[in-house]
Formats: sequence, C-alpha cells, structure tokens
Amino acid sequence: MPDQTNRSEPTGVLFVCLGNICRSPLAEGIFIHLARERGVLGRFSIDSCGTGGWHAGEPADPRSIAVAAKHGIELPSRARKFDPAADIDGFDWLIPMDRQNHRDLRDHGVPERKLKLILDFHPQPPTREVPDPYYGGPDGFDKVYQMLVRSCEGLLDSLR
Ligand code: 4NP
Repeated sequence: MPDQTNRSEPTGVLFVCLGNICRSPLAEGIFIHLARERGVLGRFSIDSCGTGGWHAGEPADPRSIAVAAKHGIELPSRARKFDPAADIDGFDWLIPMDRQNHRDLRDHGVPERKLKLILDFHPQPPTREVPDPYYGGPDGFDKVYQMLVRSCEGLLDSLR
C-alpha cells in the first residue's frame, strides 16, 4: 500500500465580497499568484464569490483586471453567488472583505471559526475593511491591490 500518511486534503480558501467582480477576484488572483511563487499552490483549493448574484457569469471588473496585470497577475475567475449548501462545507476558510460581507455570511450559517476578515491577516492594517472601489476611480483599485497583497501574504504565512 502506498504510504498516505503525509498526504492531506487541500485547504479550501474562499474569498468573498459583494459583487465578486472587484475585490474578491483580485484577492483570489493574488493568493494564487503568491502560492504559486512559493511552490505551495497544490496545497490549496482557492475560489471567490459574492454575497450578491447580479454579476454572475461575468469576468472581473476591467479595473481589477488592469491593476492585477500591472503586477503580472491574471484574473481568470467568473463571478458567482455564494452558495451556502456547497460553500460552507466545501471550504475551510471563508474570507470576507468587509464587515457587511462577514455579517451576511454569518446570517447564512457560516460558523464563526471559519470566518475571518482579510485585513486581519495584514501585518499593519490601515483599516479593518477593504473599501469597495466599484464606484470610484482607478486609484481606488491600486489601494485595494496594495492592501490585498500584504493581507494575502499574511494569510499564506498563517496557513503554513
Ligand atoms: P465588489 O464590488 O463587491 O468588490 O465586487 C462591487 C461590484 C458591483 C456592485 C457592488 C460592489 N454592484 O452593486 O453591482
């Protein structure tokens, strides 16, 4: 029999925002990129979703795609709505971008032990919430990118 003692299931990480076109697909792309750079991508199952479903099936917002591309990161994800029946058991960690996302997930029955705001992983969090850049200009996306990179590095460190 092959020795399976060192093999384990990938750790499931689901990034969550409101529309799943600006913040959470960017967090997903950054996390995938960093995990690949560190040679640990295979240890994770990574996805993102929105608490709202208005943009389901759409690619990420062009401004998120542009800021990611500036840093050599692709955002292949398509928007989808959070699915309590599949996602609560399907992921180990559900990582909301802001407090409203956190509340919505809790109201859907996500246990507190699986929930942590992404900026809680930032070494020097400028605030506790990633601001929604949807209605603002491109500099909002640069700020969000910077917050997410440091938070995703912290998240990866904490999951090692
Ligand atoms: P996100 O931003 O939650 O970071 O994807 C938003 C995108 C779209 C909408 C709201 C927020 N919207 O209302 O359509």
